[in-house]
Amino acid sequence: MPLVNMKDMLNHAYQNGYAVGAFDLVSLDFLEGIMDAAERCHAPVILSLAESHFEYFDFELAMPAVVAAARRATIPVAIHLDHGESFESAVHGINRGCNGIMVDSSQQTLADNIEMTRAVVDMAHACGVPVEGELGYVPGVEGEDAERHPGEIAYTTVSEAKDYVTQTEVDFLAVSIGTVHGRMQGKPKLDFFRLQEINDTLGIPLVIHGGTGLSDEQFQQLIGCGVSKINYYTSLADKAGVQIRDNASTKPHHGYTSLAAGVRDSISIEVERCIRLWGSANRATELLALCTPWMPVEHLIIYNVDGITEHQANTMMSEGQNILSTIPGVLEVTTGRAIQHDAMYRYTWLIRFCHSAVIDSYRAHPKHVVFADTLFRPVAGERISIDYQT
Ligand code: 13P
Repeated sequence: MPLVNMKDMLNHAYQNGYAVGAFDLVSLDFLEGIMDAAERCHAPVILSLAESHFEYFDFELAMPAVVAAARRATIPVAIHLDHGESFESAVHGINRGCNGIMVDSSQQTLADNIEMTRAVVDMAHACGVPVEGELGYVPGVEGEDAERHPGEIAYTTVSEAKDYVTQTEVDFLAVSIGTVHGRMQGKPKLDFFRLQEINDTLGIPLVIHGGTGLSDEQFQQLIGCGVSKINYYTSLADKAGVQIRDNASTKPHHGYTSLAAGVRDSISIEVERCIRLWGSANRATELLALCTPWMPVEHLIIYNVDGITEHQANTMMSEGQNILSTIPGVLEVTTGRAIQHDAMYRYTWLIRFCHSAVIDSYRAHPKHVVFADTLFRPVAGERISIDYQT
């Protein structure tokens, strides 16, 4: 149950004047440190995975651990793809288990940003998944010195924000008002007047990227102007770095586990500081009562084939697995064959959807229609199907 709909979570934060932390994770130490802090604070949390970090870990391998951590939690959790780079990345993120998606086409022209974001919103909403868009450009790279990636800040304008949100129907908007990704030497100057105007105009949860380096007062002011999600990473990586360097200096001849000792706790302490500062501590109970649980749906077909050999049936099933698993919202496709030779039905498909909305979008998807009409239905006249939640 504790995996919940991120839109419910952020709407509550927006209406109640606090922000949920979206902490980027790059290893199990991060995952466990973030979850420990959120549990200690009884706070909602967003486990965030940035596509730019996929060079440091295997997204496919990490996601089952992230989903397991969310499912066993006692606090509300959402799993978010941060800075998805393409439409395909967004589909991949959803199909691996993300229930919130950000597409970042903020460096493109406004028209191209709108077109790309709109396509992702259509696809993601048909899977029940909310979308964060970004307008304006927040320069820098998470985990690095912001000064080394100066790029010009492009501030979000109120009129463009209005057009963008109306045309794309994003659920949350990341705005550029002076923050920078990564480690900054100076103190960022934030344009709160602009932020307030954007908030008054849009009335949807706003997102701040580049949380590292902001002061306590700046965070309070951001939240007062409608910021309901704060993205945070570099400071966590730096706390981990300090711990590793300390370990190396006190235990110069030790190996990996000694060097990594305490990293999880140093991350957790910083996450706890943020959660308490941003006002999300002790919100878990009220949120769990109102957030829609994020529950996968299973689509089961049991069937017999007619007019094809066993070998042809195998080929049809493996082609189906390849084709159907790429449809947005499909978490997993498995096929089976009865053990008993006299079973009333011999074959099964079990298709896991991320959300009940996928029942309809999957059925209408052109890949499903072609597969079902040309390869499956002509040979599988005798069948029973059911969609259910476990
Ligand atoms: P920082 O690394 O500056 O905290 O920013 C994180 C971020 O915005 C991730 O999207």
